[in-house]
Amino acid sequence: MCGIVGAVARHDVLDNLIDGLNRLEYRGYDSAGVALVCDDKRVQRLRAVGKVAVLEEEISVKRPVGHIGVAHTRWATHGQPSVRNCHPHMSGTDLALVHNGIIENHTELRTELEADGYEFTSDTDTEVIVHLIHRVLPDSNTLRDAVASAVERLEGAYAIGVIHASSPDTIVAARHGSPLIIGLGDDGNYLASDQMALSSITDRFIYLEEGDLAEIQVDRILIHSRQGEVANRQVHRFSPGALSIDKGHYNHFMHKEIHEQARVMTDVLEGRLAEAHVPDAVFGVDAAALFDRAQHIQIIACGTSYHAGMVARYWLEEHAGIPCQVEIASEYRYRTPAVLPHTLIVTVSQSGETADTLAALRNLKDHPNCCGSLSICNVAGSSLIRESDLCLLTHAGPEIGVASTKAFTSQLVAFQLLTAVVGRRHAMTPQAERGLVLQLRELPALVQHVLLLDERIRNHAGTFADKNHTLFLGRGVHYPIAMEGALKLKEISYIHAEAYAAGELKHGPLALVDEEMPVVALVPVDGLFDKMKSNLQEVQARKGSMLLIASENACLEDLKPKSVIRLPDVPEFLAPVIYTIPLQLLSYHVALIKGTNVDQPRNLAKAVTVE
Ligand code: F6R
Repeated sequence: MCGIVGAVARHDVLDNLIDGLNRLEYRGYDSAGVALVCDDKRVQRLRAVGKVAVLEEEISVKRPVGHIGVAHTRWATHGQPSVRNCHPHMSGTDLALVHNGIIENHTELRTELEADGYEFTSDTDTEVIVHLIHRVLPDSNTLRDAVASAVERLEGAYAIGVIHASSPDTIVAARHGSPLIIGLGDDGNYLASDQMALSSITDRFIYLEEGDLAEIQVDRILIHSRQGEVANRQVHRFSPGALSIDKGHYNHFMHKEIHEQARVMTDVLEGRLAEAHVPDAVFGVDAAALFDRAQHIQIIACGTSYHAGMVARYWLEEHAGIPCQVEIASEYRYRTPAVLPHTLIVTVSQSGETADTLAALRNLKDHPNCCGSLSICNVAGSSLIRESDLCLLTHAGPEIGVASTKAFTSQLVAFQLLTAVVGRRHAMTPQAERGLVLQLRELPALVQHVLLLDERIRNHAGTFADKNHTLFLGRGVHYPIAMEGALKLKEISYIHAEAYAAGELKHGPLALVDEEMPVVALVPVDGLFDKMKSNLQEVQARKGSMLLIASENACLEDLKPKSVIRLPDVPEFLAPVIYTIPLQLLSYHVALIKGTNVDQPRNLAKAVTVE
């Protein structure tokens, strides 16, 4: 997704801007650009298609020097990846702007601006913003006033940074629907889409709120709220470790993040388990009263986070005894749902900035039948957290690989904690809760144990690398884990992968099974073990080539499988976390063989802040 960096300092800021762009690479992008008000008071802009390194090559030929500038990585939405569509966009020679988000009424604004004589030099929705600002500048007292008046015309989502040659000491920033933060430095102040961009410069951040407009200068930051009042926004501090984005000895962030999961299990549980229960306060000071009121849970999320929600539904209904529904946010936000009385909304998101999830929360939270909202999220200070009544941080640490791994397993653990606190109020006995707490304490060691299978799983990857399709099968709580396995494989290896609840095979997908169709099946020994085996016999009878990921005590002789990865026999409640890990490793090794870009798969972005 697009990334913004801005800097105003006592020193030349070009290196800060480029460093910030490099740190935003993980979000996914196809082109990059930078503009500075140079010391001769002229705006200089450089743009390039491809990686930030290509932009750096251009800079090495013609290096602009200035104390104020904005920069951008673009992920194409309107218009192809090309230099003309790269940000910053300019109006005239003095005004430059970077933008994240989508302007929905850009066609109408473009027609209006063209009628006023503005010539467009790109196919983007963004360019209307810079011309709108340019048009009102002559009648405005300050650049801030011009931006304030221009953004009133915009429909859609935006986070913008604006510089002007006549205001060489001020960046003006505004946000509505897309995240933006200010970083406070010793020698200047900074702007970015997320704190990761500024992690080498500062550990002090201000999160702009919806509708905020900020003037950022070297030693002064002035923020106005949507209502036009001066706003005092809190400064948040993060330890440098929390912002570390180093690959260590791994070749890819994804591989490193898979291997961090034992530590992540420890971190997400840290301070959250009492002797025999999960304290309500883990979810915030008002949690107890809110959980007391909840009679129904509505989970809303996208992608991998949605799969975590699907797993949670099995737990919340079976162990906690509370009715639960799960829905994809992009669907939920446009439905008119019949909301059950006393519904607790639970949103799940790694980034906390996913546009559809945020919109669904905003639509639902004022519904008279909603008793409150909880977000399960990995990014402190994100929009989702700020707009929810309660939050549970998943403490997975920065996740740079676009394919979500450690964030997913930490979300599962967050839901296990939720199952305990909600369950206590419904169907879960104190003994059951105690048992659950004891099991959770074992989780980090079990995850560590499964990670040792990395090499063995690599040996199975070759079977998949030359295939065009794969089926993933699971039953019960392992059906969404199969879905997650299929999503991982398709997003990083570009192999078409579908997941089915194994009982559905005979209702259609069995027609696909032959020697050429690899089938990955999750076979824990649980209440559905015999059913799963019958389904696998159906595959075997069609000569499907199976890779079974099975419990070490699963008796599989009658299936005569060629490929089995044995996992430790773990309690049913922990199994979804444990069975996820081989699937992550499998997709990683298949992608390595195929030579795809593991950390930044084509067409995908890390934080999907637009619809
Ligand atoms: C897949 C993946 C995506 C995200 C989805 C939601 O590996 O990462 O499917 O899960 O875009 O993102 P968050 O969790 O940030 O809301």
